Amino acid sequence: MNASSDIGLVGLAVMGQNLALNIADHGYNIAVFNRNSERTSDFIAQCKANEPSAPRVSGYTDVAEFVRNIKRPRKIILLVKAGAATDDTIASLMPHLEADDIIIDGGNALWGDTIRREKELSAKGFAFIGSGVSGGETGARFGPSLMPGGSAKAWASLEPIWRDIAAKVDPVTGQQLDGATPGHPLVGGVPCTAHIGPDGAGHYVKMVHNGIEYIDMQLICEAYALMKNMLGMSAGEIGKVFDSWNKGTLSSFLIEITADILQQKDPEDASGQTFLVDKVLDTAGQKGTGMWTAANALELGAPANAIAEAVFARALSALKAERVAASQILKGPQLPFEKDRETIIAAIQDALYCSKICAYAQGFQLMKEAEKEYNWTLNFATIAQIWRGGCIIRARFLQKITDAYNTQPDLKNLMLDSYFTNALHDAQNNWRKVIGLAVQHGIAVPAFSSALAYFDGYRSANLPANLLQGQRDYFGAHTYERTDKPRGEFFHLDWPKTPRMQVKV
Ligand code: 6PG
Repeated sequence: MNASSDIGLVGLAVMGQNLALNIADHGYNIAVFNRNSERTSDFIAQCKANEPSAPRVSGYTDVAEFVRNIKRPRKIILLVKAGAATDDTIASLMPHLEADDIIIDGGNALWGDTIRREKELSAKGFAFIGSGVSGGETGARFGPSLMPGGSAKAWASLEPIWRDIAAKVDPVTGQQLDGATPGHPLVGGVPCTAHIGPDGAGHYVKMVHNGIEYIDMQLICEAYALMKNMLGMSAGEIGKVFDSWNKGTLSSFLIEITADILQQKDPEDASGQTFLVDKVLDTAGQKGTGMWTAANALELGAPANAIAEAVFARALSALKAERVAASQILKGPQLPFEKDRETIIAAIQDALYCSKICAYAQGFQLMKEAEKEYNWTLNFATIAQIWRGGCIIRARFLQKITDAYNTQPDLKNLMLDSYFTNALHDAQNNWRKVIGLAVQHGIAVPAFSSALAYFDGYRSANLPANLLQGQRDYFGAHTYERTDKPRGEFFHLDWPKTPRMQVKV
């Protein structure tokens, strides 16, 4: 029997189903398999009923038959739960694979696991690609941002399909091109995918994408909290502000959906008076990619403090019962709502933009550390470019980041690119004003303020770490360098025994 499928896919949860349909829409025959075979039959039945590309999708309930029906060298995408389920799925496929077959993990895997899997599979003569897939269900169906890492040879084999199914952006503006429908994919545009690097590089970059996603979302939430608690605005009014912001420099997918979410009325309230967001419990969930980003930043010594704050903010939000109890005991200031609404809204917009610049600066700075640590060569212009469309953090200003790294590939920090330097200079007074007001009103803005601390710290030629080094040397003989001696020369003083100098006045 001749193999008929160009590619295979294991894991038919929504992401897997949608990615399979996206691939089929682009003219590829795809074999699909799911551990629970009922799901496979249901999916195939649904496809036959609703999908123009159904004839190109074949479902299998036997793993050996599934693998046999894929053309060699086989390309098999995994969209299963990250962690043990990925290892189990690889183990179940392994006996049926042949030389040069490629497994592509599209889950949110920890990059270290991807490095290990790539090693294990290449030792057996197979190839492994860890590919970040971003964009949620709609992205998977009509164009995600794809961040693949693995050998150049394996990538060459996967590239045509990945380029076809990825989101597309306008070559001039960098704006995402929309309009694909089932059976009618987009033609033209620049695909949001590129080879990121070897082994775990793709999953690493996807992890940082998610870290930035966490801080992007937290910043938006803080802007909302300020308008709600400091200006006394309703969710619907705030939603309109986000609508207007989405027309300017802040234009992005997350701002767009925030405007929608805030203006959504509660479907349970027949009177149509309440906004749904006011009924949603204020405890955020998390699956771990933000935490991985923050933990890795700590490990590499990269100052991604705002990204970490976004993770801590979710942790604090999860302590609902404790917060409710504490709110009865710990009192903050009781100030009336600020009056000068329009001026303060404009200032919040500036604060959001400046903080966002810092958030991205931290993400890119972290990737710069990672490329040294893990021996990768990352192309930051390319990374910004493939985040312009398809993914959750897609935003107009990613074109500016692309331009910045295209002009200066070795840019030390995004804030040093003239476009961003000017933006920070122009808007920082409003940023400081908003944080000051938030502090006076007792409204927690951890992401806004940690982003500002990053900006102020990064632009300081002198930090108080001189005193810190003195403290370390005093109690632990950890030594210090001197400003009047070359770097790398270390000194120690026996502080308690050395007489203090008398400073003459
Ligand atoms: C994406 C998203 C996606 C998912 C995250 C959210 O790029 O499409 O990042 O990967 O939404 O898993 O993670 P949390 O559940 O941790 O918010």
